[in-house]
Amino acid sequence: MSEQTLTITDNRTGQTVELPIEHDTIPAIGLRQLKVQADDFGMMVYDPGYTNTASCKSRVTFVDGDRGILRYRGYPIEQLAEKSTFLEVAHLLLFGELPEASKLTDWNARVMAQTEIDQGLKALLKTFRADAHPMGILVSTVGAMSALYPDSKQVHDGQSRLQQAVRLLGQLPTAVAFAYRNQLGLPSTDPDGALGYSDNFLHMMGLSGDGEVDPVLARAMDVLFILHADHEQNCSTSALRNIASSDADPFCAIAGAIGALYGPLHGGANEAVLRMLAEIGSTKNIPAFLDKVKNREVRLMGFGHRVYKNYDPRAQIVKKIAYEVFEVTDTNPLIDIAVELEGTALEDDYFVSRRLYPNVDFYSGIIYQAMGFPVEIFPVLFALGRAPGWLAQWMELMSDAEQRIARPRQIYLGEAERPYLSMDERG
Ligand code: CMC
Repeated sequence: MSEQTLTITDNRTGQTVELPIEHDTIPAIGLRQLKVQADDFGMMVYDPGYTNTASCKSRVTFVDGDRGILRYRGYPIEQLAEKSTFLEVAHLLLFGELPEASKLTDWNARVMAQTEIDQGLKALLKTFRADAHPMGILVSTVGAMSALYPDSKQVHDGQSRLQQAVRLLGQLPTAVAFAYRNQLGLPSTDPDGALGYSDNFLHMMGLSGDGEVDPVLARAMDVLFILHADHEQNCSTSALRNIASSDADPFCAIAGAIGALYGPLHGGANEAVLRMLAEIGSTKNIPAFLDKVKNREVRLMGFGHRVYKNYDPRAQIVKKIAYEVFEVTDTNPLIDIAVELEGTALEDDYFVSRRLYPNVDFYSGIIYQAMGFPVEIFPVLFALGRAPGWLAQWMELMSDAEQRIARPRQIYLGEAERPYLSMDERG
């Protein structure tokens, strides 16, 4: 018997199957041989939330949740956050390698040349109410790009894929800033392709005061984008892969990913953390708040992760950036509540025994708020950072010959066949 196999005995029948092991996984379809009756459907795995199911083979991002490790294309996140720019990381994610100097110059220029948005998109963005949530607007923006760029349907053409990626990376910050300023009733600020990616974004948002964007803030934004740039098969990326597996165009697939990101258990957590900290209001209220968490009345937002059972390496970097940003902006008093909340939780058996640590969203909102962003826009900032990761995962999916349309199974527990009831037979 080969050593690289798993032998499973079905104790209902005594039937044995031997399945190949590759990369510590077995092909789920192999279980279908296990049947009690010849006409049975066969054995499946039941995995709500996909806690133990690998849906793809990927070469983009590596996460070791037990050891708190995150790498893009093999490079540790700590090194990328210290040394790289966001567009450099986008290149790394999309093409697999850090660009040489001349290639980076070309890449930056290529993306920044795409920062103008279409007049039709501007007209659409003007139709949203002043109180519309920016994530709803973002879903619509990216969905509208599908309508604006019908050539994006050529999903099997590598050149076309790249063209859509550059469009999205270039235009997304402009559309976000345009929608934001429109909601405030302010005139829009044109993109400046001569600026760096994050400088230009802060400039268009109008968060630079009267003068130039402070380089500390532009760098902080860039690093926050880098930290969010990819996180392998999370909820939104899986949503994207599911949608794109039907050969839908990338804008529709990314609009769906943004929808998945919006929820407070995922990218909406940064907004929820800020609201939670504001509600706690003072460090003296922390014990009472944590009691509510332990009584399961509320969740400690920004804590816990499906994969990390150790400190999220991104959270360590975000915490450090917070203090750098406060050197430039006024300090955000919520940082004191957050630090004490973290310290108290990490000494409490409820969190220790469940291995719950701060995640990337715990401190990011405090920085965004200090920089002048309104709370509602925080998940949009997550999405701007995640865009290259989504695009890289989409490109990988489209060139993966093993992938098929996503179509999970179910365990049907509903009614067996029964005859239709006429109206007077019901109730
Ligand atoms: N507060 C209190 N208890 C928690 C929390 C939390 N934030 N997270 C998990 N738990 C408990 C949970 O109640 C459960 O306890 P028990 O076994 O006694 O029922 C145990 O820990 C395991 O939790 P789970 O819900 O089964 O874990 P999951 O892997 O399904 O969920 C999570 C992961 C991130 C959705 C969850 O930890 C959570 O809701 N965190 C708060 C929201 C948040 O910060 N999300 C951002 C995630 S990082 C950014 C990104 O989305 O990529």
